[in-house]
Amino acid sequence: MVNFQNLRTVRWDGESIILIDQTKLPNKLTYLKCKTFNQLVDAIKRMVVRGAPAIGVAAAMGLALVAKNSNANTREELINELNEAGKILRATRPTAVNLFWAIQRILNKANLTLGNVNDLKLAIINEAQIMAEEDIETNRKIGYYGSQLINNGDTILTHCSTGTLATVSYGTALGVIRAAREEGKCIKVIATETRPALQGARLNAFELKEDGFDVTLITDNMVGYVMSKGFVNKVIVGADRITKDGYVFNKIGTYQIAILANKHNIPFYVAAPSSTFDLVSDWHDVMIEERSVDEVVMIKGRRIVPKGVKVLNPAFDITPPDLITALITDKGVLKPPYELSIRNAFS
Ligand code: MRU
Repeated sequence: MVNFQNLRTVRWDGESIILIDQTKLPNKLTYLKCKTFNQLVDAIKRMVVRGAPAIGVAAAMGLALVAKNSNANTREELINELNEAGKILRATRPTAVNLFWAIQRILNKANLTLGNVNDLKLAIINEAQIMAEEDIETNRKIGYYGSQLINNGDTILTHCSTGTLATVSYGTALGVIRAAREEGKCIKVIATETRPALQGARLNAFELKEDGFDVTLITDNMVGYVMSKGFVNKVIVGADRITKDGYVFNKIGTYQIAILANKHNIPFYVAAPSSTFDLVSDWHDVMIEERSVDEVVMIKGRRIVPKGVKVLNPAFDITPPDLITALITDKGVLKPPYELSIRNAFS
């Protein structure tokens, strides 16, 4: 069994970034060492590392790598290099806002740090490591607040991968489930497979099983059935971006789960850190990542769809605030109306 207490999805080893290679799970738990910035960029694009908070910390460490490997002679040269690297990182995956938040935090740190180019390098490398530690603390806070909403004996349906593998460690939605178990509550989990990239089947079911949870996998189209049968008490999902009025961008399929939960009077919770909140963008303006159609038409390297059939592959969807019972954050549990509760939490 894998010890998830000590597992780190993203780690800085002093000279490179160590990532759990999520493309190899669940068959092999292996690590990818990124020694160059380009390797890290490629790892984010290929979803070696994925999950909004994990992508954010990986991006911060990518900038730390740029700083470490830089030959810049002046702080201005280094800041220019970091700005250029930030542009490349921002183009990797457009929807999860944690990526943009993390890049900005490192750039701010660079701009505000006094001293010579070496002082700047050290400050940036240090900041990226602080962000990794903070991610775990934040998830524990989310878990603490969220576990108050969970009852002993609950069966919780969750979507995509939201645990250690989507963060540095512990998780958001899965962190809430972990925290409830730590309080002695007996919890069962229903995990959706999460087509097309199968984060639920490959990653969440792996993590839940290895961590000793009672987990049952369903395909995405079984959600209505299990709810209608009374098998589900609560839904908890994560988020990739939450706007100031409570629109939740999360893995494709989340929206239909929210509608089904609403139809069956099942509470629908979203667990996310402060870095997932985008208090600036209008929800209409947020870009939904379109991924390669190969994710949909190919299974294990074999084509399952006739050539010439048109295919869509949006990676995320949008759940409107009226379907959300509460947002579980590191600042506490936010209730509707979200425009007000989010404003109060972040003021
Ligand atoms: O495309 P992915 O695997 O990066 O998408 C991940 C999700 O949508 C998660 O549900 C989300 O990041 C919240 S998990 C902390």
